[in-house]
Amino acid sequence: MTRIAISLFAAMLAGGAFAVDLNDRQRAEIQERIAPVGEVCMQGDSSCGGAAVAASSEPRSGEEVYNAACMACHSTGAGGAPKVGDVAAWADRIAKGQDALHSSGIQGVAGTGMIAKGGCMACSDQEIMAAVDFMVDGSQ
Ligand code: HEC
Repeated sequence: MTRIAISLFAAMLAGGAFAVDLNDRQRAEIQERIAPVGEVCMQGDSSCGGAAVAASSEPRSGEEVYNAACMACHSTGAGGAPKVGDVAAWADRIAKGQDALHSSGIQGVAGTGMIAKGGCMACSDQEIMAAVDFMVDGSQ
């Protein structure tokens, strides 16, 4: 009885070993199938498709930066982000002064969804400040 169980087990092991014995063509096919998962899309690399935020020598306008890097949260209110155009949500913030808001834009607001530069690490400080001004202009 035990002997039968052991030989069945051995047969299963042998079968398993056979199953993973791929030929070169199968291996190449599998590598091709999993290749896209291994690709890393760096910020600023437009070859990956989507709205890549490219670092460029020309500073982009506040509106361009807003559309690329801030709108996702600031047009929807995601995570408690003050919506652009929501005068009441911005009034107290605007009262803190432009410098304070610029610094929140660049450094983020600790403990909230507002991460440094809204996550746009390719954006210069100047571009972030322009985006903050664009948002403030549209919210008072
Ligand atoms: C992932 C979501 C998210 C993105 C992207 C984002 N923000 Fe925010 N932002 C928030 C949240 C949440 C708050 C509210 C934080 C708080 O509680 O004061 C906020 C608040 C702010 C404030 C007000 C801070 C203050 O001191 O009152 C400014 C200015 C701001 N964001 C600028 C930006 C700019 C500029 C960008 C794009 C470059 C951006 N944000 C992108 C989530 C986001």
